[in-house]
Amino acid sequence: MFLIHIISTLSEVRHCFKIQPPNSYKNILKFQYIKISTLAMIAWSYPDIGEVEHQKIMEVIKSGWLSQGSITKQFEDALRETIGVNHAIVVNSGTSALIAALLAHEIGQRDEVIVPTYTFAATCNAVLSVGAKPVFADCDPHTFNVSQETIRKVITSKTKACLIVDVGGMPCDLDGIKKLLEKNNIILIEDAAQAFGAMYKDKRIGSFDHTTIFSFHMAKIITTVEGGCVVTNDDELANKLRLIRNHGMTRPYEHVNYGLNFRITDIQSAIGLAQLGKLSSFLKRRATISEIYKKNLKSVVDFQFVPDYVTLHPYFLFFILARTEAQRELIEAEFLRSRIDFRRCWKPLHLQPYYQKNVNSVHYPSAEDLYKRSLTLPIGNAMSLENANLVIDAVLRACLERDKVWETALGG
Ligand SMILES: Cc1ncc(COP(=O)(O)O)c(C=O)c1O
Repeated sequence: MFLIHIISTLSEVRHCFKIQPPNSYKNILKFQYIKISTLAMIAWSYPDIGEVEHQKIMEVIKSGWLSQGSITKQFEDALRETIGVNHAIVVNSGTSALIAALLAHEIGQRDEVIVPTYTFAATCNAVLSVGAKPVFADCDPHTFNVSQETIRKVITSKTKACLIVDVGGMPCDLDGIKKLLEKNNIILIEDAAQAFGAMYKDKRIGSFDHTTIFSFHMAKIITTVEGGCVVTNDDELANKLRLIRNHGMTRPYEHVNYGLNFRITDIQSAIGLAQLGKLSSFLKRRATISEIYKKNLKSVVDFQFVPDYVTLHPYFLFFILARTEAQRELIEAEFLRSRIDFRRCWKPLHLQPYYQKNVNSVHYPSAEDLYKRSLTLPIGNAMSLENANLVIDAVLRACLERDKVWETALGG
């Protein structure tokens, strides 16, 4: 704590006196996650929790029934309607949703499951937790998602399932991937943790005939603080998922299936219901911010490519792709100076010690390049346009200052 306090104070002082960041700013980067909570003037994510949520929470507390009950059922009905799917099974996290989906599909030991190396670790950890073997696939360099081409390269006779991830909330090429997987008799599960509200060819993600999961963690498109959901059109699978969520019980102490405690509380579901009511305004705000980012930054950086089949990108993450690693460092330094929060999403799993030991460490060039050049900018349901403009100014300052240095060096 003492160390955190000193670092925070020093950073504050540096900011007040507008001292340039030291050359060894990389050391400061190590502490950026500490700075985020203590110092950032512009947060990376802006959840929108207000009066409606407060009221709904109080209603549940006054009702006397706090754990999973009728409010969760209402939330599930509202989710089904919004997504256009037969069943929504709400659980206590996106990670639980992934594990429940894998268990419901009876994926376990001796099965291989393809997962992107470019994802949050939960995708791979869920596979490990059911005893199956994750097999990494590289991402497409433009969409950042896995594709038919990258999946095809890693299919083996043991591949039982493929867990695709909609990176930043942007849907994968579902038709192309489905065709490939059906031909090889492989189960498709979609990790749409970040993609709530997204549309593929004008249909909501989650409404298709394969199992899909969402996360409702605090930073996600809609939140229950922590929470998640599995959606399916398959009645039998839905029954199994409900059993898996609650120790396989049909009624108190009657266990007909394996299961765990993946239950959510009615307090959380009440927040989810309130959030769902604001979904369209959340998506509009994210669309506006991403548009102004693109319009103002396109001359200096690149973006995640959005193919025509994506008819709604919810922009859970707004990626910029610096043209060089050095350019990204300049942007990061400027963000630190301006107290703007940011994330490098993600260090590919095959570069991390645990997965190098337990999965593999061969090269995945697109994911590695992305890791070197990408950055995610602040965005959120309640982010102001003023703050978005401050972020734009900071990126431009960083990139154009570099150009000035070159011009001077070249005598321009
Ligand atoms: C791609 C992906 N999958 C799974 C998860 C896990 O969701 P949760 O944090 O709700 O367990 C996350 C969370 O950020 C995620 O980004």
